[in-house]
Amino acid sequence: MDARGSIVHAAAIVEAKKPHVLIVDDDPDSREELVHQLVGQNVAVEIADDAPSALARLSTEPPQLVVIGLGHGKPHALEFLERARQIGGAHIAFIAISRSSHPEALVEAFRRGADHCLSFPEQAEALFMVVRRALEKPALAREVERAREGILDPAAAAQIGMILGAHPSMQRLLDKVMAAALSRATVLIHGETGTGKELVAAAVHTKSKRSAGPFVRLNCSALAETVLESELFGHEKGAFTGAATRRKGRFEQADGGTLFLDEVSEIPHSVQVKLLRFLQERQFERVGGNETVQVDTRIVAATNKNLQKLVEDGRFREDLYYRLNVVRLDVPPLRARPSDVPILADHFVRRFAAENDKTISSFSERAVNALLAYPWPGNVRELQNAIEQAVVLCRGEQVELEDLPLSHTPNEADSIRLMVPGVTLEEVERFAILRTLDAVGGSPTKAAAILGISRRTIQYRLQEWGLARMAKG
Ligand SMILES: Nc1ncnc2c1ncn2[C@@H]1O[C@H](COP(=O)(O)OP(=O)(O)OP(=O)(O)O)[C@@H](O)[C@H]1O
Ligand SMILES: [Mg+2]
Repeated sequence: MDARGSIVHAAAIVEAKKPHVLIVDDDPDSREELVHQLVGQNVAVEIADDAPSALARLSTEPPQLVVIGLGHGKPHALEFLERARQIGGAHIAFIAISRSSHPEALVEAFRRGADHCLSFPEQAEALFMVVRRALEKPALAREVERAREGILDPAAAAQIGMILGAHPSMQRLLDKVMAAALSRATVLIHGETGTGKELVAAAVHTKSKRSAGPFVRLNCSALAETVLESELFGHEKGAFTGAATRRKGRFEQADGGTLFLDEVSEIPHSVQVKLLRFLQERQFERVGGNETVQVDTRIVAATNKNLQKLVEDGRFREDLYYRLNVVRLDVPPLRARPSDVPILADHFVRRFAAENDKTISSFSERAVNALLAYPWPGNVRELQNAIEQAVVLCRGEQVELEDLPLSHTPNEADSIRLMVPGVTLEEVERFAILRTLDAVGGSPTKAAAILGISRRTIQYRLQEWGLARMAKG
C-alpha cells in the first residue's frame, strides 16, 4: 500500500491557507479526542494512523505542527518522534501527548526532540493554548531555530554542546544563547554557583561565527588589582619591575574570539574604568604604554552576585553595568527545574561509571526520590559531585540512597531557601506542598485536606515540577 494512502484528510477542516497540524496516534479514540480539542482553532487538521504514513507526509508536504500521541509510553512512538524531528528539522513544532502516569515519559519525549509535552487527561485543556503558542512562534525563535539547524544535532534538541536541560526554562535559555551567539553583543550571565555559567559562556562562543577564534577566560576575583590590569590589557617592556618584555594581555590574546570575564563583580574600580572605555571605543593602551591598541574581542561576563544591587550600593559602576548587560542570560537554579535532575543524573552516572570501569546505569527508587526531593543548593556541580561519589561507593549495578552524599537534610536546606523576602510565591507553594506530602506519607488526599486545596491541584503541580512520583496512592 502507498504509505501516504493511510493518511485520512479530515476534508471538512482542510483548507490551504490555514496552518496545517498533523495528528499522529495509532489509537482511534485518542486521535478523535485530539481532533476534538483542535476544533475551533482555525487550523487544518490531518490525521496519520501510523508512523510510516506520517513520516512520508513529513518529507513531502510538511505541516507546521505535529501532535504525537505517545499512549502509555509506547517505545515505537518515541522512536517515531525522534525520527520525525530529524526529518522535520527545526521548522516543524512537535507536541507530545503522554497518557502515562510516569513523568519519565515526558522527560524522554523532550529528550527525543518534542518542543512541548502534555500529560493527558490532566493537561488536556492546555492543548488549545500550547497549539496556538507553537503556531505563533515569534520571528526571533524561528531565526534561532534556522541558525540551530546546521549547528545542532536535531536528535538532541535538548542539548547545546554539553549543556543538558529539557525543562522549559532551560529551553528558553538555550534559545537565548543561540540568539546571543549570532550577534556580537556583550553578554552578561547571571546565576547561582554551579548552575553552568561557564558552560553557557563557552556555548556563546562555540555557536558564534568567532568559534574558530580563541576563547580566553579570566577569573577576575583571583588576581590583585595591578596584576589584573596587566593581565587584561598587557604591558610594555619596563612598565614595572620585572616587566622584561612586552606582553600581550587577554584582550589581545582573544582578538577575533571571545574573552570570558568570570566573577566580573570583583573587578576593582580602576580596572572598571578601563574596561568601560574598551566597551565604548573597542580600544585601550597596554600598561606603561601610549600606543592605542584596537582588537576585535567579544566580551562575555558572568557573576553569581546581584550586580544591580552592587550598582545601587556604589560598588560597581552603573555605566559599566549597562555596557555589560546588553544581552542578559539568567541560568536558573537546579531546584527551579526539577525535571532536569533525572536527565543530568543519568548523564553523570554513565560518565562516571565509564571512567571508573563500573557497570552502573540506574538508580534505586529511593535514590531517585531523594535526588528529586533534594533542593541542590550547589546546583549542577553539587549533583555532579554527588553522583561521582555515589558511583565510586556503589557496589551493585544500581546507585542506592545510601551511596548518595546529600550534604544538607532537606529540612535544613528548605529553611535556608525560605528566607522571606527572597523567595518566590511558587517556591513557598512548592515547599508547603512537598513538606505536607512528606508529613502524610505521600497521600495527595490527606495533603490536600491539610492545605485546603484540591487533590487535583497537588497532582497538577507535581506534574509541572516533574515530581509526580512523589505522590503515593
Ligand atoms: N546543564 C548542564 N549540563 C551538563 N553539565 C552541566 C550543566 N550545568 C553545569 N554542568 C556541570 O556542572 C559543573 C559546574 O558548571 P559551571 O562551572 O559552568 O558553573 P558556574 O555557574 O560557572 O559555577 P560558579 O559560579 O561556581 O563558577 C561543571 O562541571 C559543568 O560541566
Ligand atoms: Mg564558573
